[in-house]
Amino acid sequence: ANSEAGQLIALHQRAAQLYHHILVNTPAGAVARAYLKRRGMTDDLVEQFQLGYAPEQRVLKAFCDQQKIDYQILRKSGLFTEDQAGELHDRFVDRVIYPIKNQRGQVIAFSGRLLSTANNDLPKYLNSPETLIFNKRRTLFNLDVARKDAKQTGKIYLFEGFMDVISAYGAGVSNGIASMGTSFTEEQVAIIQRSTPQLDICYDGDSAGQNAIDRAIKLVDQEATGNMVTRIVQLPAGIDPDEYVQKYGGEKFKKYLSQHEETVVDFYLRFFRNDRNLGQQSELINYLDQSLKVIAKVTSPVEQDMYLGRLADEFSLDKAALKSQLVQLSEQLG
Ligand code: UTP
Ligand code: MN
Ligand code: MN
Ligand code: MN
Ligand code: MN
Repeated sequence: ANSEAGQLIALHQRAAQLYHHILVNTPAGAVARAYLKRRGMTDDLVEQFQLGYAPEQRVLKAFCDQQKIDYQILRKSGLFTEDQAGELHDRFVDRVIYPIKNQRGQVIAFSGRLLSTANNDLPKYLNSPETLIFNKRRTLFNLDVARKDAKQTGKIYLFEGFMDVISAYGAGVSNGIASMGTSFTEEQVAIIQRSTPQLDICYDGDSAGQNAIDRAIKLVDQEATGNMVTRIVQLPAGIDPDEYVQKYGGEKFKKYLSQHEETVVDFYLRFFRNDRNLGQQSELINYLDQSLKVIAKVTSPVEQDMYLGRLADEFSLDKAALKSQLVQLSEQLG
């Protein structure tokens, strides 16, 4: 297509090829190749995700000039910064390049990662700005692949980062996606809902990750109109999915995902314990109150009963008393 969008996409596809070529075939890519290898990125993964490298020496502008690509298209592509004189300069410099694709698998943007974050004030990941073809709020990394996989597996995993999606893919989990550095959005919820019957949220195993899971659950709860199921996979403390794969291997990762899938209520029953001393009666009362409010929203009476049974057992409480409090709360919540 010769439309502006078509031209922008064509430019991105060629830029992706150029960055990939530099990474894989040239001396200028050697340091980035070593970096990716150190991080466990196999040749297959580099190919699958078309990873690249934008070298220190600015190459894209020269390439585009040589190809006689229209100045206005270059300006609107987001791939360059513009100085006062209107000169364009490569935006991505000395960064590993992650092409970001739309749902048709066309490259629409890039994220570039620093090779080293030590003594560096620059952002670890630099993303393309919004353009005619790149709307961050509507974009999910690897969705083009994940939605095909979801036709078989019936689910999609939501990870925090690109490297999590890529390492999971290497482990045979090809239905992973990640939001674009920005927080998870309502537009993304709507798109995911059209792509899969079940979403498993699998964020980093740190407190930031847990808080992000809480926010993501609430957003899905608000925005999802159909009957998409939400599950959580909480990783061990201090580790992200990519680190898990590199440390324990792909088989263990897959096993972990399948064995630690939990319901939203399960997640909150743990989450509400954080920073609480449940040995103290007032804290326990607050904990039970918070937990019952979440359980009150569960529509299945059998499932509700299971959670009540567990709380009753754990804290030696009368299940009937919990039940009547739940009924009270349900009436309050309407
Ligand atoms: P993380 O800090 O968890 O990075 O941010 P990561 O994915 O583990 O990256 P590695 O393993 O250090 O390479 C999660 C995501 O947040 C976005 C990126 O999308 C990243 O994958 N992010 C993070 C940015 O957009 N900019 C940043 O400077 C940092
Ligand atoms: Mn290749
Ligand atoms: Mn993180
Ligand atoms: Mn991480
Ligand atoms: Mn990481």
